[in-house]
Amino acid sequence: MCGIIGYVGAGEALPILVEGIRLLSYRGYDSAGVAVAHDGALVVEKDKGRIEDLAPSWDRTRLRGSTGIGHTRWATHGRPNRVNAHPQQDASGDVAVVHNGVLENDIALREELEAAGVPFVSETDTEVFAHLYARAFRGDPVAAAREVLARCHGRFGLVFLHRRLPGTLVAVRRGSPLVAGTAEGVGLVASDVRALAGHADRAFEIEEDEIVVLTREGVAVYGADGVRKARASHPVTYDDSSLGKGGFPHWMLKEIHEQPDRLADLVAARIDPVHGRIRLDELGLTDAELAAVERVDLVGCGTASYACMYGARAFEALAGVAARMVPASEFEARAELLGPRRLVVAVSQSGETADTHAAVEAAARAGARTVGVLNVRASRIARSVGGFVDIHAGPEICVASTKVYTGMLLSLLLLALRVAEARGRGHGALAALRPALDALPGAVRRAIAAHDQVREVAREVHRAQNMLYIGRGPDHATAVEGAMKMKEISYIHAEGFAAGELKHGPIALVSWDVPTVAILGQGEARTKMLANVREVRARDGLVIAVAGEDDADARKVADLVLPVPVVDPWLAPLVHSIPLQLLAYDVARRRGCDIDQPRNLAKSVTVQ
Ligand code: F6R
Repeated sequence: MCGIIGYVGAGEALPILVEGIRLLSYRGYDSAGVAVAHDGALVVEKDKGRIEDLAPSWDRTRLRGSTGIGHTRWATHGRPNRVNAHPQQDASGDVAVVHNGVLENDIALREELEAAGVPFVSETDTEVFAHLYARAFRGDPVAAAREVLARCHGRFGLVFLHRRLPGTLVAVRRGSPLVAGTAEGVGLVASDVRALAGHADRAFEIEEDEIVVLTREGVAVYGADGVRKARASHPVTYDDSSLGKGGFPHWMLKEIHEQPDRLADLVAARIDPVHGRIRLDELGLTDAELAAVERVDLVGCGTASYACMYGARAFEALAGVAARMVPASEFEARAELLGPRRLVVAVSQSGETADTHAAVEAAARAGARTVGVLNVRASRIARSVGGFVDIHAGPEICVASTKVYTGMLLSLLLLALRVAEARGRGHGALAALRPALDALPGAVRRAIAAHDQVREVAREVHRAQNMLYIGRGPDHATAVEGAMKMKEISYIHAEGFAAGELKHGPIALVSWDVPTVAILGQGEARTKMLANVREVRARDGLVIAVAGEDDADARKVADLVLPVPVVDPWLAPLVHSIPLQLLAYDVARRRGCDIDQPRNLAKSVTVQ
């Protein structure tokens, strides 16, 4: 979603702001802008579009200055256009502000300001902050920021620049992450540490309701009461691999290719080589507490919720505990049904998703135990949950999730096995799975190596308007996730569902120009899937089967085959996801879509 970067130092701010915006752009955005203090005024350039297209047209002579703020906007209040882009300013042009999050009492404050004669130009809630700050500013930026905090409800990260303090930035955080960075003679602030790459040596997270004043001389932290606080910073280390595409044309392809190594790391980190037990050191629950769990609710949104579908199956089958997936936005914390014997597992890549966060908070209030399966340690959900399982996939830049999805599946499988262990039934299951876990990275690598076959299928299906995806058992999740990948990045309407549901309605859609992707699987599921494939073929439907490399039947019944190595059924959904990720990628590429930043989507969805 929206991204923030601010810089104060001795050098030119503009290149650092533009680079920061570029580094933040993986979050998904529709508009971008900057404000720089120049010659006693604030110069603002902003518009709808991508930074690569916008920045070259900006007037660099007017944007010269060593203090500035930048922003990527993902529209919530008002359509994407120049006026609604950030920075927003007050009527006099004294203040420029960039904002992430939502101001909840926006309407009341806007009406109050309008009644006092303040003219509004944009449809944004952000503009309210600019007017409030301008009216509260009497020379002391902390006092002005405190007044803003006192009047505003909601979740926001803000950075203010005032014409009368051209070498000072003021950052305010309530519920929306901000990190401050420092180097010799430099102060930086951003919504994501990535944006500080190469410019900050040390950094710290700004905490709830804190006000941070950044100048060339240093960074000062104040509480909402205006009292100055000490704050330790930590050295900033940048993972170079997350800063470049490493020769791949898109982040998505790079992240698909990272999966074997990420999964190998995860297996190595989670299984104690000496005792062969699962290590989840930050779970925050004793064996007795885990053994007492009577029910597990897995909550997440989008792709994370599909990982939860798989996780629920693993909890029931392996740990013998009742489990279900609930889309986080539909989770209802009924106090009479929750309590310490209910475990709520929140699954999220970003750790910032508003619906998932709200579900966790509600569950905790109702007395349930909470655990986060998350890819970002310094995140809002991580701070709210009782225990933590790190997905360990590294930063995911492409908006469509790939490596984190398979990381979620593996993490949930290991969590289910850990609960099974605590309930006295897991050791055998883990021992049986161990060779398959060790072989998993190699199998994923082989699935990726079959990319040429995927390209052929993409050539056949890329003109489709609609697609169907079917799977059974743990591959029900693979089907819905495969369809999600396709619709997100290629804009083909794709529906995933349990294959058994085919004859109960969706079969009406089957025709030659609606390709059906069938994930065959193994054993009894495969037998039933082969029957489903025949039903589709009997109605002239084009079938693409995801099938074992040596599955001769698949070649007989399906039109096209995406071959995958045969692995343990619990690990199969990870391997089966690979050709579906690649298929979505190749189809989107043929259709000329913006693969890494699909239209209307954002990497972290921080509004409900
Ligand atoms: C799909 C995708 C989204 C996210 C969803 C939840 O590729 O990325 O469906 O999975 O918005 O996001 P997180 O996992 O950050 O909570």
